Amino acid sequence: MIVLGIETSCDETAAAVVAETGEAQRPWRIRSSVVASQVAIHREWGGVVPELSARQHVRDICGVVERALADAGVTEYGAIAVTQGPGLVGSLLVGLSFAKALAWARGVPLVPVHHLAGHIESLVLEGGEMPLPAVVLVVSGGHTSLYRIEAPGAYELLGRTRDDAAGEAYDKVAKLLGLGYPGGPAIDRLAPAGDDRAVLFPKTRLTHADRNAPHVPGHRDFSFSGLKTSVLRHVTARRAALGLVESDPLPRTEVVDICASFQRVVVETLLDRLFDAARWYGAHSVGIAGGVSANSRLRADARARGEARGLPVFIPSPALSTDNAAMIAAAGLRRYRGGAAVDRDVNAEANLALP
Ligand code: KG4
Ligand code: ZN
Repeated sequence: MIVLGIETSCDETAAAVVAETGEAQRPWRIRSSVVASQVAIHREWGGVVPELSARQHVRDICGVVERALADAGVTEYGAIAVTQGPGLVGSLLVGLSFAKALAWARGVPLVPVHHLAGHIESLVLEGGEMPLPAVVLVVSGGHTSLYRIEAPGAYELLGRTRDDAAGEAYDKVAKLLGLGYPGGPAIDRLAPAGDDRAVLFPKTRLTHADRNAPHVPGHRDFSFSGLKTSVLRHVTARRAALGLVESDPLPRTEVVDICASFQRVVVETLLDRLFDAARWYGAHSVGIAGGVSANSRLRADARARGEARGLPVFIPSPALSTDNAAMIAAAGLRRYRGGAAVDRDVNAEANLALP
């Protein structure tokens, strides 16, 4: 079977064609994957503007889907997989409405997909099926969530951020250092030249349950807003000490040291939680997906820790780590083959939970 995937949950309009291979270990193959990024539009505003995002999806969706089908050289497909949530509701609605109309016109099933199930599937698309049980961290601009996978397609939430996502923390810290948007790649580029212990920013440890989700044990949750505030306080204090006015940048060496110090805390926090959970649950593999998995220190440190413990580490290539529709098509295929209900009346859900 061939599946058309469509993803419009945030600032990327994406469509892809994914085919089943019939192989148990590598069940899918990407035939095409097209991503129209809106980064240039949102950069001017220092972050994603929901209304602009939805409007741009409307402009791009037809062309992106046509392109994905043409690149794959297919005109027929057996199902359409589309992101139902979570995400910006106006943006989700564009992809979902388009997919519903197309599924109806073509008479093919519509498979709604959770965006994070898509990110997790990006690991399988490239690395093949993960040895289970596995623990996977999805870490992006909108999410920092830790999942346990006991059986294919069955996800249990172990912890997530109570406030900022890790990528959001990167973006906010980069903004206050004057490094532009998106901040993750900018900090990643500068950090290796800095001293990662020049500034000892605190690590936040949560030990109590979340009042809003008492069923999730709180000690695997994350919090990054305190770290961001510590960076802000440090920058404000250094500015005052150096007698800088608002528009003056900090000296370059200090900026580079702050990037390195901030990045060390983020990466250690993420990996401590991931590998603790892996040990606790006796995982046979771990994975990191989402935009922040493109981070070079996170990738290198994760591989090193995995090697030291004899645990296979799954991380997607940068092209599959950020939002794309190949991962949505693959997750849709898994749901469809798993007998998930197919419903053309589904609605977009900004806060959709997984599972
Ligand atoms: O998955 P993604 O494309 O979109 C969301 O679903 O959010 O992730 C985007 C996020 C942004 O916050 C961006 O700053 C971050 O991923 N990011 C990085 C790197 N590349 C992208 N963060 C750290 N290091 C990177 N190399
Ligand atoms: Zn994403």
